[in-house]
Amino acid sequence: MAMALDSILPVLFFACLCCASMAALSPDPRDFFADKIKGNLTKITWAHAVNSKKELAAALADEKIMMIEADISMGTVHGNPNATVPIMVHPPANESDLSLADFLNTTLKNPTRGIKLDFKTIEAFKESLPILKNNRDEMVVPVMLNADILPGPFSDDKPVNPDEFLRGAKEHFPESILSVGWKTQSGALPANFKGSYTKEHIMNMIDTLSRNNISQTVTFPVRAALAANDIVVMQDLVKKTNNYKSTLTVWSANADFVDSQNVSTLIKTVEVEKTYVDVPESVWKDLSLGSSATSSLASVTLLAAGVFISTFGFSNFV
Ligand SMILES: *[C@@H]1O[C@H](CO)[C@@H](O)[C@H](O)[C@H]1NC(C)=O
Ligand SMILES: *[C@@H]1O[C@H](CO)[C@@H](O)[C@H](O)[C@H]1NC(C)=O
Ligand SMILES: *[C@@H]1O[C@H](CO)[C@@H](O)[C@H](O)[C@H]1NC(C)=O
Ligand SMILES: *[C@@H]1O[C@H](CO)[C@@H](O)[C@H](O)[C@H]1NC(C)=O
Ligand SMILES: *[C@@H]1O[C@H](CO)[C@@H](O)[C@H](O)[C@H]1NC(C)=O
Ligand SMILES: *[C@@H]1O[C@H](CO)[C@@H](O)[C@H](O)[C@H]1NC(C)=O
Repeated sequence: MAMALDSILPVLFFACLCCASMAALSPDPRDFFADKIKGNLTKITWAHAVNSKKELAAALADEKIMMIEADISMGTVHGNPNATVPIMVHPPANESDLSLADFLNTTLKNPTRGIKLDFKTIEAFKESLPILKNNRDEMVVPVMLNADILPGPFSDDKPVNPDEFLRGAKEHFPESILSVGWKTQSGALPANFKGSYTKEHIMNMIDTLSRNNISQTVTFPVRAALAANDIVVMQDLVKKTNNYKSTLTVWSANADFVDSQNVSTLIKTVEVEKTYVDVPESVWKDLSLGSSATSSLASVTLLAAGVFISTFGFSNFV
């Protein structure tokens, strides 16, 4: 008996170590991709609106892609018109060849990419919870649960119910990263559009998180053209939500007019350590996130004293 125990204990000990390392559910992208990005969140690469088998295969085949973003709404999967289930689709479309179950099964099989699930309705989120739970143990990659939970600039669209969304996420996926934003105008934003997120918008978000007793990590998806029109408000949002290890996720609709200089300033002001950038290639290519002539000296100094970067922030030196 004693012999048997002696030989089993080390095995148990080893097994526990494995469990402990494997059990890290939904790690923060800042940790998961640390080697690749060295703290610079703008280096994280996105595949956006990956809502079909073909797009998913393409994203998984592209080694550069780190995060896969997709939309979830209720609808039918091709070939099965009688069952309404959570599918990968952007409304008003309500058919897809890819269900949420298949999307998760495929992306989590080779756990090298993070996923961001953009829930379009509270119904879709609730119906998705059992499917997400089935896959929870495999969620060893960053998992962002996204919804537009509050009214926003120039939009009458009904937001996803904030309290139900936050309660579901907190109860069932306390380890996930919440990505919570505001409804914005549908359709393209023209040049010289003056709209922006306001103090009221950000206070509403802060109150909503607080009244739901949220303690998990939060990122705020903000539309580039609007966010760049009031950089101070965006900076304030991130400062006031430091307790959620908060970040911005700057996104842009395909046809939006984007002032690349202003968006670059936004990102550098909020800091590249706190800003994910998920924008179309046409916008990305015109951003200048590197050091300007006056700041290159500062950035060399900062690299030599890495601690400074996170403590005081890059923008203080620009
Ligand atoms: C869907 O439902 C209709 C009506 O009940 C039925 O005729 C049809 O065979 C069903 N289709 C499938 C693929 O199950
Ligand atoms: C999908 O949309 C079409 C066209 O709007 C509609 O006729 C159909 O009922 C919808 N299907 C479901 C399952 O909602
Ligand atoms: C996941 O995919 C595998 C084959 O690739 C299949 O055998 C399995 O049933 C799928 N699981 C779910 C939950 O869909
Ligand atoms: C860019 O920012 C400047 C300064 O805040 C502002 O005057 C200008 O209108 C912005 N440009 C656009 C296209 O929004
Ligand atoms: C938040 O916490 C407070 C204090 O513990 C409690 O009274 C309240 O019911 C909680 N609210 C929610 C939505 O969980
Ligand atoms: C962050 O990464 C971007 C590329 O995504 C690069 O242009 C920029 O120089 C980097 N900034 C810092 C401060 O490392």
